[in-house]
Amino acid sequence: MKLILILFSFLFLLKASQEFDFHEKELETEESLSKLYERWRNHHSVSRASHEAIKRFNVFRHNVLHVHKTNKKNKPYKLKINRFADITHHEFRNSYAGSNIKHHRMLRGPKRGSGGFMYENVTGVPISVDWREKGAVTDVKNQQDCGSCWAFSTVAAVEGINKIRTNKLVSLSEQELVDCDNEENQGCAGGLMEPAFDFIKNNGGIKTEETYPYNPYDIGFCRAKNIEGETVTIDGHEHVPENDEEALLKAVAHQPVSVAIDAGSSDFQLYSEGVFTGECGTQLSHGVAIVGYGETENGIKYWIVRNSWGAEWGEGGYVRIERGISENEGRCGIAMEASYPIKFSSSSSAGTTTHESVAPDDVKDEL
Ligand SMILES: *[C@@H]1O[C@H](CO)[C@@H](O)[C@H](O)[C@H]1NC(C)=O
Repeated sequence: MKLILILFSFLFLLKASQEFDFHEKELETEESLSKLYERWRNHHSVSRASHEAIKRFNVFRHNVLHVHKTNKKNKPYKLKINRFADITHHEFRNSYAGSNIKHHRMLRGPKRGSGGFMYENVTGVPISVDWREKGAVTDVKNQQDCGSCWAFSTVAAVEGINKIRTNKLVSLSEQELVDCDNEENQGCAGGLMEPAFDFIKNNGGIKTEETYPYNPYDIGFCRAKNIEGETVTIDGHEHVPENDEEALLKAVAHQPVSVAIDAGSSDFQLYSEGVFTGECGTQLSHGVAIVGYGETENGIKYWIVRNSWGAEWGEGGYVRIERGISENEGRCGIAMEASYPIKFSSSSSAGTTTHESVAPDDVKDEL
């Protein structure tokens, strides 16, 4: 009995970790497509009301054929039938890429960080950087059906600089930003990273994920005052000069950086792996964080981008986005709205001691 249980849980784990895949044959008839849809719904535990089922199936059919067609082309990236496969591009954009970054930027006016760009005189950076390997990135999180990506983007950058300055990786609270940072930002209705950095600075820090956990369905009431425990502080933030991927490279070589992208394309929705070179505009909609960069064997340069749609999406929750394209805005507008927190102190409470920024090891000239 015990053995059976162990076997059973092993099989269950195996199933859970398996990617959903399909065979070309399953696309041939309406009936086989319909069975495929059922199999997909089981795999992702998606239940749909019967009056919705036909519509959802229609969207699924469209998406699965798009995935199949795209993957047959020789592109540097692949798509998959992930859990967003039965929602339209429009629904997807509203629910998961709904930070309305561009809208919030227009309302806020010009960028106003501390003014300077502390990495402007950096002359050499490593050929590749991955802050995950340096232990400066927490596990991928999931914003769920809430336009709070601005909070996840902000927090990822603060977690990164906090680890770099204090040598401690502490998962921090997106929920505190969603609930309490509401002068300009709007919780699940979207926001911008820049005012969130201001909030953390002026608020005297941000709580930890553990003490103030994420719950996208319970918002609008700030509970920070009643929560005891550690807070992580920052000393301000700066902007990376706009539309300048070289400047962005200098910053990312020193710390994870918050950026905004246009994540509204269906290829982005269904992205599976590889370097994303696909369609996407510059209507900034989604906040994410760059946690590194590199180059493939075929010479395609990329940014390593941490998303907040769970570990199932993309490459374990990450996407590699093409870097160094001729348009200055960068692929998906990635160089348009980049900013990062400043943290001088090497203690976790507010302090004023200034430290030299940690130089990345094995510095090689890439600029
Ligand atoms: C970069 O170098 C210039 C010229 O030496 C200097 O004026 C500027 O303050 C430096 N910038 C930073 C951020 O150190």
